[in-house]
Amino acid sequence: MAKAATKTFGILTSGGDCPGLNAAIRGVAKAAYGIYGMKAMGIMNGYKGLIDGNVKPLKPEDVSGILTKGGTILGTSREKPFKVEKGADASIVEKRLEAIRNTYNKYNLDCVVVLGGNGTHNTAALLKKEGFNIIGLPKTIDNDIYGTDITFGFHSAVDIATEAIDRLHSTAHSHNRVMVIEVMGHTAGWLALYSGVAGGGDVIILPEIPYDINSIAKHLKARAKGGKPFSIVVVAEGAISIEESGMSRKDLKKKREAGKFPTKGYEIAREIEESTGMDVRVSVLGYQQRGGAPSPYDRVIATQFGTAAAELLNDGDYGKMVARFNDKITALPLEEVAGRLKMVPSDHILIKDARDVGTCLGD
Ligand code: F6P
Repeated sequence: MAKAATKTFGILTSGGDCPGLNAAIRGVAKAAYGIYGMKAMGIMNGYKGLIDGNVKPLKPEDVSGILTKGGTILGTSREKPFKVEKGADASIVEKRLEAIRNTYNKYNLDCVVVLGGNGTHNTAALLKKEGFNIIGLPKTIDNDIYGTDITFGFHSAVDIATEAIDRLHSTAHSHNRVMVIEVMGHTAGWLALYSGVAGGGDVIILPEIPYDINSIAKHLKARAKGGKPFSIVVVAEGAISIEESGMSRKDLKKKREAGKFPTKGYEIAREIEESTGMDVRVSVLGYQQRGGAPSPYDRVIATQFGTAAAELLNDGDYGKMVARFNDKITALPLEEVAGRLKMVPSDHILIKDARDVGTCLGD
């Protein structure tokens, strides 16, 4: 067998946590030890640990029994090494890069494997440009990472959100109410779309399709007239109205901050009350979508991504993100992923399917 390009690698988890992170850590580490005889070093709390040198050996016993564990045994953060905070001097970035170099050298890291979302991969692409060996695994409940059909964490969040939606049907029906459930997804609406269809949502509102409250009201009133004065409205936290879609990001941010509603779900609930006179209640699912044990599907995809990363380590094929594309496990250069998002396209088959079963998409 050709000499492994990687003897020792670091591994870190970055950004929002999700079910499946530990399954992915396990996949990388077990394959790296078992097949390639590599040494793994756990880097604590995302890129912060890489800067601070907060590193500890990741031994086989550390990754045993973690396949079904939620969260991440390595901790995480949203540290951005290339960000120059307001009032900080630009030299702060070079100082952080120097610190990262020291960590690579101190622990003889041939490469660092990062498990994260869009922000994590943007940083990974910049570190690659600075000459660091790095490999990415796509993680997020939002499923909005470019270049991969799926991210681990997404299916578990769909399961959690769908179970919550299922429970809301009975209370909506008993009280003849409109129940608005807000799910995560501040930019892309994959989670709202999949859980909305799976949970039989009557209305599904995505950030990609600015909503017209009059269309929503018409749909809800028609349901009531047809003998169903109860409905489920699934809203992505990043949903915007038609009026808001014409605003600049800055103005939208100002409006949100000045707004009297804690989140979009409450704002839409008030708009529905005012335009239909119906009784409306709100349920914001929040961080439950990121907690607990990974679904079996996420355990599988996380394991597949992990073992694929171990192979890239062995081949010295650095600077890539592992992905599943057209049902194949593959890898693409980090610079192709960075700065891009995978939004729900307006012609996505699931949008057509939702409309075909009479779901209102807010337009
Ligand atoms: O990116 C995943 C995500 O869960 C989003 O869906 C959500 O808006 C965001 O993270 C919450 O970020 P934080 O965990 O920093 O509050």
